[in-house]
Formats: sequence, C-alpha cells, structure tokens
Amino acid sequence: MNVEDVVEWANNSIFDKTETGEHLTPIQEAILTGVWQRQKYPQIAKDFHCSESHVKKEAAKLWEKLREELGKDLNKFNFRSKVEKKYRVSNISHLHDSLLQIDNVICGQFIQNIKNEKARSPSPPDSPQNKSQSPIIDLTDAPDFPDYYDRTSELSTLKQWILQAHTRLITVYGLSGIGKSAIALQLIEQTQTEFDYIIWLSLTNTPTLSTLQTELKQFFGRSQQPPLPTVIDYFRSSRCLVILDDVQNIFKSSELAGQYLAGYEDYGKFFKQTATSSHQSSLILLSWEKPREITALEAENRATRTLHIKGLGEQAAEILREKGLADEEKWSELITLYQGHPSWLNIIAATIWELFDGSVSLFLADGSDVFLGDLEPILESHLERLSDSEKKALYWLATQNEAVDISRQPADSLLSKSEFWQAIQSLARRGLFEKVLVGTRSKFQIDPVFKAYIQSK
Ligand SMILES: Nc1ncnc2c1ncn2[C@@H]1O[C@H](COP(=O)(O)OP(=O)(O)OP(=O)(O)O)[C@@H](O)[C@H]1O
Ligand SMILES: [Mg+2]
Repeated sequence: MNVEDVVEWANNSIFDKTETGEHLTPIQEAILTGVWQRQKYPQIAKDFHCSESHVKKEAAKLWEKLREELGKDLNKFNFRSKVEKKYRVSNISHLHDSLLQIDNVICGQFIQNIKNEKARSPSPPDSPQNKSQSPIIDLTDAPDFPDYYDRTSELSTLKQWILQAHTRLITVYGLSGIGKSAIALQLIEQTQTEFDYIIWLSLTNTPTLSTLQTELKQFFGRSQQPPLPTVIDYFRSSRCLVILDDVQNIFKSSELAGQYLAGYEDYGKFFKQTATSSHQSSLILLSWEKPREITALEAENRATRTLHIKGLGEQAAEILREKGLADEEKWSELITLYQGHPSWLNIIAATIWELFDGSVSLFLADGSDVFLGDLEPILESHLERLSDSEKKALYWLATQNEAVDISRQPADSLLSKSEFWQAIQSLARRGLFEKVLVGTRSKFQIDPVFKAYIQSK
C-alpha cells in the first residue's frame, strides 16, 4: 500500500462517513502523507508553510474523522499500523487467490505488498520470483507492535549488510526490550521485495535444530517442487530471509555467554555452515547474547556481522510524548537516566503516571538516583543468566565510579587476570558492558541502570 492509496482510502472513507460528503482538506492530506512517511508535525508544518499548532489542530480533526474506521485510540503514532492491519485483513482473500497454486497459504504481516509488485534483483532461472513477483512471508511467530520509531542508522547498516554486502549471517544482540524484534520487523518492511521467502521463527520453546530445519524445509517446500534435501539448498536456490528470534533460549544459564545447551550444539554448526557456504540468503539471529563462534567467523570476515542494539537516544522522546507525560524540558534527563531503553521508558512512564500524574519534574525532583521499581524483575532475569566469574566482575565494576581500564588486574576483584578478562568479554557479549573512549584509551563501563540495581542489592 503506498501513500497515494492511503490518501485515496482516507478521502473515500471521510466522504462516505460524513453527511455532507466532505473531502480531505489540502492540509489534512499533507498531514496524512507526512505521518505515513513517519514525519513529525514540525516538519509537516514547515513543508506546508504553516504553524505547528495549526497542523496539530487540523490533525486532531482528521483523527476524529477517521476514528470510526480505525478505532477510538487512533493517533499519529498508530495511524500507519492501523491502516496496514486493516488493509492486510481485507487483502487476505486476494492473497488466497494469488497463492492458490501453493497448497497452504501463509499469511504474513506485510503480505499486502502482493499488490505492490516492485522491481526485484536478478535471480537464477528456477527461483520462484520468476513465477510470482511477491515474497512468500510467514510472520506468525513474530510479535505484533502497535507502533515503532525508525532507527534510521541501524536500519541502514542492516540493509547495507544484506543488500549490498550479501552478508549471510547477522547477529542482532542487546538487552531484553531494547527493540531487536522491532528493528527486524522494520527491516522486513523495508526489504521484503528483495526476497523470495521471509520467515520468522522463535526459539522460545527451544526446538531442536532438526525440528527447526524441518519447519524451514516445509515452509520453502510448499512452493518449490521437488523438495530440496537441506535448508542450505533452499538458501542457494532462492533468496531467503530467515529471522530466528529469542536465540538466547538455546544458550546455557550460569555459564559464560553464548554457550549452547546440551543437545543444541549443532546449532553452532548450522550457523557456521550458513556463514561459510555459498548462497544468496540471510539468516538473522535476535538474541540477548552473541553465540560464541560468531566472533571468530567475524574475524575471518566470513560474511558475518554483529549489531549491538542500544537505546533509542533522543528518538525515545516520542515514547514519552505518546504516553502524554508532562514537562518536556525534563525528558532528555529521563531518557539519559534510563539509557533511551524503549521498554524501560514505557514502564517508567507508567510509574510516573501512577505516582506523579505524568509529571516528569516531580519524578526527577529528588536527585538523579535511578528508580527501578518494576524494572527489577527484568534486570534480575539478565543477572541470573551470568556465570560466577561474570557476577564477581560485574559486582566489582558496580563499585567503580568511572570507566575502567582493564589492562591491569584489579587487586580486589577476586578473579585471576584471565578469568577477569574472560568475564569482561562475556559481559560485553551480553550488552551489559560497554567500551568507551576516554582520551585515547578504550575503557569499560557497566550499564548505569544495572549498576544501580546491583548497588541496591
Ligand atoms: N523503535 C521503537 N520505537 C518505539 N518503541 C519501541 C521501539 N523498539 C522497541 N520499542 C518498545 O519496546 C518494546 C520492546 O521491543 P522489542 O520487543 O523489539 O524488544 P526486544 O529487544 O525484541 O526484546 P526481547 O529480547 O525481550 O524479545 C516494544 O514492545 C515497544 O513498546
Ligand atoms: Mg524480541
């Protein structure tokens, strides 16, 4: 669905629903177009040569007119996802017809692009894109988000790795709730026409590798006959994008990061094979921690890349705006305190409403201590996965006031130098620990929210 379709749909909808047969006004059309393209109101006002308050007033009228169609909670943040959802549902019958030759239709969230056939990259003669111009998508395992804000720079990195550098194995890692699944969905949204197949599988229920491979082969095999013997064969014959979510579930707790559970070691071999064999597909792992072999593959430059997802930065202000918090001048302080972590900020915003009726100033009035509240169980779920040596290193680091130079063994860390370095390396592979440049030296520092939690224990 492109922006012209959206404007036409909104125009018809308003015409049908209003007694006097109203149409979109030019400014409302500009607002719709801008919001669809994820522009902010100040930008829309600038482009339309009017004030921001005028845009806000007209936008309020516009959302009111569209609420009957899209729901009472409609606003600029959820407009696009609501339209896409509505459009998707109404297209399922169309999709069913289009894919009748495939005996089992797979409904994906972005499948509406079946209508939106775009030019695709050249492909081998027997690949399915010569039979159908649209990717076959299965996002049944993917989470559904009401809305998310673009992570432009991370997205362009991922797109460059996949589309230009043909990276075969990508690990996207970071803390729980930091936005790994959200960014992967955005990536699919923006690259889907480049693929023949897109599938999202979650490892929450710890499927064995053989179960996972059977599921993948069944998915690819529905439209490719005769069936091919291995997943890598499908990766060779078609352009596939496979997202494996919640990968940390196949790693051990109480051990250094990225070590496979007993019986799951063959996943490591599969990841390695994906990185080193020649094919035209990409496998993306979303995980709290990096698998161990990834560092070596990356070092050998074996079509392998890793992206550490961090907070949203200033963009996180949109979350606070959406939550309707007050005292905008204090928002950046709040964002810095909680590292721009979207999920933490959502939780803290709820607390601010519960305790201070939405006033960020009152919440922050008592100094810069990090209030943890409902974040504690989330933080604990990370800490309980740590090995003993990581706990010792982390607890020692939580006592340090500044970023730490690890070249010298700390006298009071209770670990040997090699245990200490290994622990630091492992904590970094979990995104709990960051390298910062102090002068010309790289030093390490612990996430301040975790620091506060550890200190409170
Ligand atoms: N780009 C974004 N814009 C707005 N909100 C976001 C964004 N990314 C994440 N969020 C918010 O944070 C929540 C968690 O995001 P997401 O599920 O993508 O995290 P995750 O890293 O996949 O977490 P987990 O490892 O627990 O699966 C989302 O439900 C959403 O509310
Ligand atoms: Mg996720």
